[in-house]
Amino acid sequence: MIDRVTIEKIMDSVEIVDVIQDFVTLKKRGVNYVGLCPFHNEKTPSFTVSPSKGIYKCFGCGSGGNAVNFIIEHEHLSYPEALKFLARKYNIEIVEKELTAEEVEQKNQRESMLILTKFAAGNFHGNLFKHPEGISVGLSYFKERGFRHEILKEFSVGYCLEQKDSFTKTAQEAGYKLNYLVQTGLTIKRENFTFDRFNGRVIFPIHSLSGQVIGFGGRTLKNETKAAKYLNSPESDIYHKSRVLYGIFQAKKEIVNTENCFLVEGYTDVLAMYQAGIHNVVASSGTSLTEDQIRLIKRFTPNITILFDGDEAGIKASLRGIDLILEEGLNIKVILLPPGEDPDSYSRKLSSKEFKEFLTTEATDFIRFKTNLLLKDAGNDPVKRSSLIRDIVQSIAAVQESINRSVYIKECSTLLKVDEGVLNSEANKIRRKRAEQRYRHVTRQEEEIKEKPGKKQQQVFRETTDVQEKEIIRLLLLYGNRDFMEICPEEEEEAKIITVTEFLINEIINDELEFDHPVCRQIFEEIQYIENNEQKIEEKYFINHQDQTISDMTAELLSPAPEISKIWSKHESYIETEEMKLKEVIPEILIAFKNKKIMITIKKIQEELRKAQEQNNVEEIENLQTRRILLNDLKKQLSKDLGERIIQ
Ligand code: CTP
Ligand code: MN
Repeated sequence: MIDRVTIEKIMDSVEIVDVIQDFVTLKKRGVNYVGLCPFHNEKTPSFTVSPSKGIYKCFGCGSGGNAVNFIIEHEHLSYPEALKFLARKYNIEIVEKELTAEEVEQKNQRESMLILTKFAAGNFHGNLFKHPEGISVGLSYFKERGFRHEILKEFSVGYCLEQKDSFTKTAQEAGYKLNYLVQTGLTIKRENFTFDRFNGRVIFPIHSLSGQVIGFGGRTLKNETKAAKYLNSPESDIYHKSRVLYGIFQAKKEIVNTENCFLVEGYTDVLAMYQAGIHNVVASSGTSLTEDQIRLIKRFTPNITILFDGDEAGIKASLRGIDLILEEGLNIKVILLPPGEDPDSYSRKLSSKEFKEFLTTEATDFIRFKTNLLLKDAGNDPVKRSSLIRDIVQSIAAVQESINRSVYIKECSTLLKVDEGVLNSEANKIRRKRAEQRYRHVTRQEEEIKEKPGKKQQQVFRETTDVQEKEIIRLLLLYGNRDFMEICPEEEEEAKIITVTEFLINEIINDELEFDHPVCRQIFEEIQYIENNEQKIEEKYFINHQDQTISDMTAELLSPAPEISKIWSKHESYIETEEMKLKEVIPEILIAFKNKKIMITIKKIQEELRKAQEQNNVEEIENLQTRRILLNDLKKQLSKDLGERIIQ
């Protein structure tokens, strides 16, 4: 366990922008930073980091919190692991208490696997240069293929000895448990014996974004067709094939520098391109890109260039998949390699300079490429042509930049011989539909619209005051310490200035308004306690609150509202306005809170009334009706006070 003082030291040193920037490209917008959310797929940045408050928030998926929360979520670490991660970053010495057996066990699982994969990578790599078999078989294979030592070192490639369980034995002798050898997939266990998964293969370690070895690819050196050419590590706690890209660790810096990422198919393609001086290259390892992989690239650049082996049928099969990447907001170019070549083989046929030139001149915009490719096929067949047009418009609609979109529309209108206006309105229609879908995710909807079969769309009344409660807490956290108004208590002579907190607490207690939301209630109680002790409300205290639910809620409330994030230029003036308008905002929210409470009560009465009517309970009916009338009057009065601006 890490002691309290150390935790505080870490929290004081942490710069949230600095922490997040290691994983997400952030751009400054006003007082905040924005970027593409690493936790969900998005095209336009809704991931916001507030350096002054020390929090991040994504309006797309709702994730948010402080720097520790980010590391927990992003690196899949436990709370203490995340603290240690940050301590390392800021050179803070950790003072640790004894761990419980359970904690040791939990921590050990993943960490042990990672220590083992690191050991394995080191062992395989060592074989390649030090072990006679490694040198004569493994290293000479790479030499034959023309890979230089520096590349083999950069990617820590290696060789697993031929003898059935030699690696498993070596690892066990070094103290590694069979259990972890099996879990990482390095060893395969049968009833009576064990053997190395990768024996006799050259090894390509697969690194995580932060450079840890999480898995392996092993290529056979035999030409016989029986064995699979490549074997990969199985899925495990540390390795998820669909989430990683081979080479991303080595490529990430150059991807940012060049603002482009080359995508190839295989391990050797990555190595060969790297050797040719192209360092911004990753491989999907033979499969089409997954959403997670696209997201991974998007953290570093919006531009991706896909290298295709020159086989038309294969390309057509992957067009659909590429459309999906386009919809994720990436700009895509494609490069077609000459027939029979892959990036590895072709980069060797040319000098590094020629190959780079080839990549530059051949890179074709994806939509242009697709249009031409499909046009060749469609010829003059009207059915084929119209489906082709629909297809292309789908792609164009996925392009995020409006200028680019209009360029495409112009160009495709010429290529397809279709009126520009028609293409434009079709593309806009698709975009509007998609925007609506997205908007539905983003907005914190208070009235949910649910579709019931056979019925018209129905508005569902939400029987909570969550929205109002959160708004009150937000105002308290932000402006609680400010002076609110002057009051003249009747018996006292002197006028007195009360703060926002004093005002709100008084009003809420006097009107007996109760907080229903458990976290809001807890925060409100703490605020009352702080107020009673004549202390100040500090955002930091709540953001770093020991109770995770409180710290999460604070982060959620203190991030700028989603509407604001959409119009950043107006952001600062908005905050100013809210601050200036506290005299209106605060009474309004109180009225809205009361109003909603009344509405909920009316709703309940209506239900009871229905039951009473079913049972023909005349007395109860009259009683309920009277209450309903009273409440309706009260509601009318409140609505008037609120100027009909009821926040439901
Ligand atoms: N792949 C795989 N399992 C296989 C075949 C292929 O995981 N059985 C993946 C590997 O990542 C491989 C990529 O798909 O690198 C492309 O496969 P392929 O084109 O067959 O291999 P190359 O990368 O060209 O490998 P080499 O040049 O060594 O033949
Ligand atoms: Mn190849």
